[in-house]
Amino acid sequence: MDKIKETLHQLFDDFQNFEDKGQKATYIPELAHIDEDLFGVSLSCLDGMQISLGDATTPFSLQSISKVLSLVLAYNILGEDLWKRVDVEPSGDTFNSLILLELEMGIPRNPFINAGAIVVADILISHLKNPEEVFLKFIQELAQDTSIQYDLNIFHSEKSVAYRNYSLINLMKSFGNIHNDIDKVMDLYFMMCSVSITCQQLSKAFLFFANDGTHPLTQQQILIPSRNRRINAIMQLCGFYDEAGEFAYRVGLPGKSGVGGGIIAIHPGLYAVTVFSPKLNKKGNSTKGMAFLERLTSELNNSIF
Ligand code: DON
Repeated sequence: MDKIKETLHQLFDDFQNFEDKGQKATYIPELAHIDEDLFGVSLSCLDGMQISLGDATTPFSLQSISKVLSLVLAYNILGEDLWKRVDVEPSGDTFNSLILLELEMGIPRNPFINAGAIVVADILISHLKNPEEVFLKFIQELAQDTSIQYDLNIFHSEKSVAYRNYSLINLMKSFGNIHNDIDKVMDLYFMMCSVSITCQQLSKAFLFFANDGTHPLTQQQILIPSRNRRINAIMQLCGFYDEAGEFAYRVGLPGKSGVGGGIIAIHPGLYAVTVFSPKLNKKGNSTKGMAFLERLTSELNNSIF
């Protein structure tokens, strides 16, 4: 533990001089207002110890990291039948690509590309009376923090320009893979992406992925161990879109990114770590976040491989 703490502090200092060639996301207008120099890190261990540095208590937009938690809810509702609606293969494409969806008859490659997460939102609407409330409560319980909320400015901002996401859902609807009203599904999808969260809250919320599906701080079983392993596997293979190979190669942990600048990574049996830095590379992943996690697993000499 001391080694992890020491390494994090050392790296955090080193990264003050990181030359960041990335650019923050601007396709969602509201995201363009973030201070691009923010930089936060939080690592939570199974015993509840948390090491937080920099802007670890500054909220940022959860965006695609929400796709992991909506998947957990849908997987627990449908079990293995879920995979009739969405596959578990890496896409090798951008997160909002339409290309494979047409070729593969409206079945998204995996639940972490936008199309897959939209199908997951459709499933939640079919099975839950108030999915918006269930999702928010779920994340609040995982983080043990009721101050986590949706950000309606981000919600409306994304919705106002979401032409591509609407084309994805229309295409899937035409293939019969969306069962509910398109606007209702999209609103839930945008809402889940809009959650405002800090590094500290997020590393705590994702801790159960490092502990066979049981939250180590509440002892609540969130996923049975086999499902937990499977979601970790999907994070490893699909969590960074067409950069999933690069993340596995350089960092060697299952994880998930979001265009808000956050990255969560899991070391099964050890920790969950969040890095937040808004400048993204061309694939939509935080440049500094990826570089930091690469250094972390290199210095600790400890990835899952
Ligand atoms: O649908 C979108 O485009 C966003 N709400 C989420 C995209 C995202 O975070 C991709 N991740 N790197």
